[in-house]
Formats: sequence, structure tokens, C-alpha cells
Amino acid sequence: MSLHERPAAASVGEAIPHESAALHVTGHALYTDDLGVRLQNLLHAWPVQAPHAHARVTGMDTAPALAVPGVIRVLTAADVPGVNDAGVKGDEPLFPSEVMYHGHPVAWVLGESEEAARLGATAVLVDYEPLPSIITVREAIAADSFQGAQSTLSRGDVAVGFAEAAHVFEGEFDIGGQEHFYLETNAALAHVDEARQVFIQSSTQHPTETQEIAAHVLGLPSSFVTVQCLRMGGGFGGKEMQPHGYAAIAALGATLTGRPVRLRLNRTLDLSLTGKRHPFHAVWKAGFGADGRFTALEVTLTSDGGWSLDLSEPVMARALCHVDNAYFIPHVLAHGRIARTNKTSQTAFRGFGGPQGMLVTEDILGRVAPLLGLGAHELRARNFYQPGEATPYGQPVRHAERMHDLWGQLLSRSDFRERQAGVAAFNAAHPHRKRGLAVTPVKFGIAFNFTAYNQAGALVHVYKDGSVLINHGGTEMGQGLHTKMIQVAATALGVPLTSVRLAPTRTDKVPNTSATAASSGADLNGGAVKDACDQIRAKLAEVAAGALGVHPDDVRFGAGRVFPLGHPERGMVFGTLVHDAYHLRTQLWAAGFYRTPGLHWNRVAMQGEPFKYFSYGASVSEVEVDGFTGAYRVRRADLLHDVGDSLSPLIDLGQVEGGFVQGLGWLTLEELRWDESDGPHRGRLQTQSASTYKLPSFSELPDVFNVALLERATESGVVYGSKAVGEPPLMLAISVREALREACAAFGPANRVTQLASPATPEAVYWALDAARSAKTEEVAADD
Ligand code: MTE
Ligand code: MOS
Repeated sequence: MSLHERPAAASVGEAIPHESAALHVTGHALYTDDLGVRLQNLLHAWPVQAPHAHARVTGMDTAPALAVPGVIRVLTAADVPGVNDAGVKGDEPLFPSEVMYHGHPVAWVLGESEEAARLGATAVLVDYEPLPSIITVREAIAADSFQGAQSTLSRGDVAVGFAEAAHVFEGEFDIGGQEHFYLETNAALAHVDEARQVFIQSSTQHPTETQEIAAHVLGLPSSFVTVQCLRMGGGFGGKEMQPHGYAAIAALGATLTGRPVRLRLNRTLDLSLTGKRHPFHAVWKAGFGADGRFTALEVTLTSDGGWSLDLSEPVMARALCHVDNAYFIPHVLAHGRIARTNKTSQTAFRGFGGPQGMLVTEDILGRVAPLLGLGAHELRARNFYQPGEATPYGQPVRHAERMHDLWGQLLSRSDFRERQAGVAAFNAAHPHRKRGLAVTPVKFGIAFNFTAYNQAGALVHVYKDGSVLINHGGTEMGQGLHTKMIQVAATALGVPLTSVRLAPTRTDKVPNTSATAASSGADLNGGAVKDACDQIRAKLAEVAAGALGVHPDDVRFGAGRVFPLGHPERGMVFGTLVHDAYHLRTQLWAAGFYRTPGLHWNRVAMQGEPFKYFSYGASVSEVEVDGFTGAYRVRRADLLHDVGDSLSPLIDLGQVEGGFVQGLGWLTLEELRWDESDGPHRGRLQTQSASTYKLPSFSELPDVFNVALLERATESGVVYGSKAVGEPPLMLAISVREALREACAAFGPANRVTQLASPATPEAVYWALDAARSAKTEEVAADD
């Protein structure tokens, strides 16, 4: 059987709850920090934070901290035996001599209690020489403050495209960032054993990189450091790189004191220290033919990378690779550059730049549709990729017809056309309340752009009693990866789900793993788990063939039994076969490996086939806006999303719903504010808590929320025919923003551009509708 084929009665595809659901809701699921309270002699770490956005550290006196009762030690740069850097780019000193953002930790205090460490941190005396700071992207652009590589994606010749255009438009657009606000803040717990082995438990999406960073800080080979991630209370990309430094501090503290060290950021620390979704600034010029088709797009994207690079370069690459979204644009010139600002180091966040890239083009289409005399939904559909076309980076758009198909299905399921008429009637009857209805598509590339990351490993053990233990390189952050991997193993070995147990992710079980990211956790680790199970099954089939008197190819595994093809009654139970196989000295465990075939990517030329396939989806949203306040509700949302043949439909529905709501938060509610004044708190994050940073909750859910998975969508070449689901649904929320634009536009005259800020908070919506309303008043006045 090939990778995508499923045996009859497979466990994959069964709608089962998350493997830890019962533990999550009863409070029995443990997280990294919960494990610390079980340790004796535990020390607690707390940072000494700089009160400047940019400054030089000119002196430090730690003695007053040591006088605080319970303070054991203050960690400074002088304590680092290896490399004083927490990143992979060499630009993230763990103990900096130059403060790069407000709140930047310059030293860490270890105490017998968190309280002692915190009081110790306030007692450390640090002298600073304040330096000029850059806070906004626009300030960075003006000061020519950039970092990392600048990249350009191009196809054709935009000059030709603009010359052919019947209409050319230009504009500028600012996109806000987003705080991850995972429920579990960053945490690390480290101890050192008698053989100098360092064991770190970390809330990390990338245990291998956490291991490597801790090792280089400690000056140890990787083999001396083991990182385990039991589970995370959400990561969303925020724990792909940010955890390394915290793990390194805990490990350094444990190494120097010989005692276990716990470091857990409280919410304020997590909000003010860790990176967020990159805010973006875009300048664009777009050409359209008389038929509304794109002729050319020229765009310069500037992301706000914050103080260091971390993942800003790959995030920009993904943004550039998604400016096309679902649309064929013949001539493209897209530049990307990363601003360096004195803020937290912006990082991965669900979609990884894809949402920002896509939003630029969706914003353009939403803006210009009235000027082209087309409904925005019609303009979008006209520009869809046709089968046989390729992206600007040269990748053929596999299954382009799926987008057309899915779009048609969604429009009819959601009664789009009837409801358009309903919305128009409502708007005609209500001068102070307007509704808007919009539909937007998503096409998202699956695989890491960085080809080497597209590999994974797994370790599967079958014990003598027939029970199965699996380990794989992916981490669990609530997305249901472990649930899917249990289903994959049960399917591949033909045993019940209850026979399979999954052990926490550890670097000493599966080495050299990639981050659990780019939504590819199930594709990659599923491939590896299946490979390990297939090896074991092949060995067991040999043994069974002898016992059953058939050819090994004719041995079947299913429902915990092993039998000759077509004769389930003649078989034996799996445990019996395993027991016999052991006595015949058969290897009953295997290491599995998977690497995604067919990928290639030239990072400099920005050309190649970086993605294994595209994930498709579309959504229809309807909103109602109040003309006095700008307040709004999402009345209804209909989502249709392509996950191939789902490995786990309940999990996938949850991912689609959760992704959509998180996207809705990003686009409509969540607004990060930094102090941009010249006052004493310049650069300080002002939205440091849930009271000032508005997250979506149950009350922001659409009143009617219809979520469906595309049917008959098997994806060949992927484990059991499934597709990745983690990130793409976030971008389905773009239809909410576009519906808000439609509603604002309804306050004004027809065929007028409606500009809407992002996030489209009630305040931003108010200004957009007020501009529309004023234009109408002027029009009426002119008519008089
Ligand atoms: N779902 C939950 N519940 N919690 C999370 O932290 N992270 C998202 C997505 N869904 C996340 C989530 C992100 S950013 C990614 S890349 C994928 O899950 C990662 O997991 P996967 O590769 O197993 O899909
Ligand atoms: Mo997800 S942003 O790739 O961790």
C-alpha cells in the first residue's frame, strides 16, 4: 500500500476526543511548571529587567541582592561557560551589555522562593546609559534600521503588467501584530545528575533547538543535554524559538548550584519579554485588466522584527510566498525587509507570515472592487488560479480546481446569493445599522520553506504482551498531534487504540528533530511513526506467514488480530503473534524516519517548489455594525476547509474553529500598544494584561457557526491521505474583516473605496464607516 492508502476499519479517520481531553478539563494534565513542585531543593529564577528601550549597561552591583534573605545566586554574563547567546543567529546575548528593549533581562536571580528571587532582582543595582530608540516600523524605515537578509520574489516584468493594465491603484497598509496568549506561559525546569548530564523540561515546540542552545551556553556537547516536553498549554509558534533562553538560564543555574532550577514567566513577564506576531507595513501598486484580472502587483513588505532576528527571515519568506493567496498574478515584484526596532523579538505565530502576506492582497481586492465595478466575491473568483498555472516562485498549483469546487460548494451551503439580497434589504431599511457579507479564500503552502526541516523520526516499541509504546519528534501543544499519532500507529499495526501508549517528546529518544511547526507535525511525524510500524509489521508478517501457512504478503493485521487475507476466522490475536515472534528472536521495535519527497527551494532566488501541497479553504462571514459606536457582531460564519482525508475529524474541526477564532482576534480585537512617546516609559508594552489586551472569547463567537471539512479530498503522497490543518484556518477569518468593510461601505455612496485599519477594532470600524457616511453627506449636499 502507498503512504496515503488506508486499510479497512482504520483507526485514522475515527472521530475520537483529544488523548488528554479528560485530563485537560479535570485539571489532571500536568505542564512543565507543575513538575517542579515535585522536586526537592528547588530554586526559582527571576529576571532583572531594564527600564529602558535602548541603553548600555555601564555597571552592575549584585551584592545588595545577595543580602536579600533566600537569594542564593545572581547569574550574570561572567557565569556563562560557553557561548553567551540564546539564539541561532548570534544576535541574542543571553546576558546583554546593551539593552535592546524595555524590560530586557540583564541578569537573573535564583532564590529559595519566587518571592525571594523577585525581591533580589529589584535589589540588583544596574547603571544604564540610555541610547536613542526606535519603536515603530515607520521610525525604523525613516532611520534605515533593518536586519537580516532582504529578499525579492519576482516573476515576469511588472512594468509590462502595469502598461497592460486598464486600472492601476496604489496604496499603503499597516497590519498589527498579535500576542500568542497561550494559557501556559513559558516555563523551564532543569536539573543536573551525578554524571553532569543536564535534564531540561521545557515548554518548547523545538526540543532539539532548545537542547542545542542550552548545550552551547553551557559549553557542552549536545549529548550531555536532554530536553523533554511533556505537553504545552498552547504554543501557536510563540514557543518555537523563545523558550531556548529560559531553558538555558534554568540549566545554567542548575549547573552552577547543583540544585534543580525552575523558571516560569508570569503573565506580565511573558507578555513583556516574549516575541509576538510581526506587525507589517506594506506599500503596493496593483494593475487590473478591464475584466478585473490582475495584470501586475508590486509590493514592499516591511516587517517589524523587534530587537533580534530569530525567525524573522523565514517569516518574511512565507509572507512573500503568500501574497498571491489563491490568485494568479502574471507579473509580480515583491520585496521583503525586516525592520529592527527596540521591541520584543517578533517571532513565529500561526501562519508564520502567511496571514500578513495574504492580507495585503485581500485588502487590495476589498478596496478596489467598487472601483472596478465588481462585487468583491466576483473579483476574487475571477482571479483564482486555474489548473496548470504556477505561483510566482515557480511552484505548480496542484489541485487548483479544488479551490473553485470548494468555493462553489460554500456559496451554495451558505446561501450566499440569497443572503446578499437580504443584507441589501436590511441596509436599505436601517440608516444606523448596516450588515456586511463577504467570502474569502485561503491557499496555504504546506512544508517548511527550509527544506532540511522536512524530516522526522519516531521510535516504536512493541512489548512482549502486544502493547505498543510510541515516541516521535513532534510536540503536543493542544493541537492533537499525539492523538493523531496514536491513531496512525494503531492503524499501521492493526491494533486497537487502547493498545497504544504515547510517551513524552524527548531528545534522547528521537534526536535531531524539527520544530513542531509549519502545520506539518502530523505529515512528518505520521510518516515516521508509520515507517517504524511498517518495519515491525513486516517482521511480524514473516512470523505469522509461517504459522498460518500463507505468503507474508497475504497476512493481514486488523482489530488486534492477524489473519490470512480473506480469512479473518483463521487468525490469531496480535499479542499471541508478538509472543511467538519474541521467542523466534524477532526485533520488535523500530526507529522510523520520514522525509518529504520532491521539495526544493532556492532561498536567494526565491524560486522552487518549497511546498508539498496546498491547503485550501474558504469562509463566508456576515456582520452587523452599529453606526453610532462602530461596535459589531459576527452574525454568522460558514467555513469549508480542506484537510484531505482527516486523520481525526474532531481534532480537525477543533483546529478549524480555533484557528478561525484566533484569526478573528488578530483581525478585529487584539491590539498591541507600545509607548511611542518620548516620555520615561518609551518602548514599554502598554497592553501587559488581559484587561488591556482584548482576546476573543465565547462572547465573540459567531451567532451561527457552521464548520465543515471538504469531502472526497484524499491527498496522495501524505500519510493516510490527510492534509495539515494547524495554521491555514486562521486565515479564514479574513472574511470577517472583509464583511466589516462591506458593512462600513454600506453607510456611504456606492463605488467608493472603504479603507479599514487592521485590527478592525470597533474604533477603527467607526472611523471607516464615519468616512463613508461623510462621503454620502457630501454627495447629497452636492446633489442639492
Ligand atoms: N492548536 C492548539 N490547540 N494549540 C497550539 O498551540 N499551534 C498552531 C496549530 N494549532 C496550536 C494549535 C500552530 S502555530 C501550528 S504550526 C500547528 O498547530 C502545529 O502543530 P501541527 O504541525 O501538529 O499541526
Ligand atoms: Mo506554527 S507558527 O508554524 O508554530
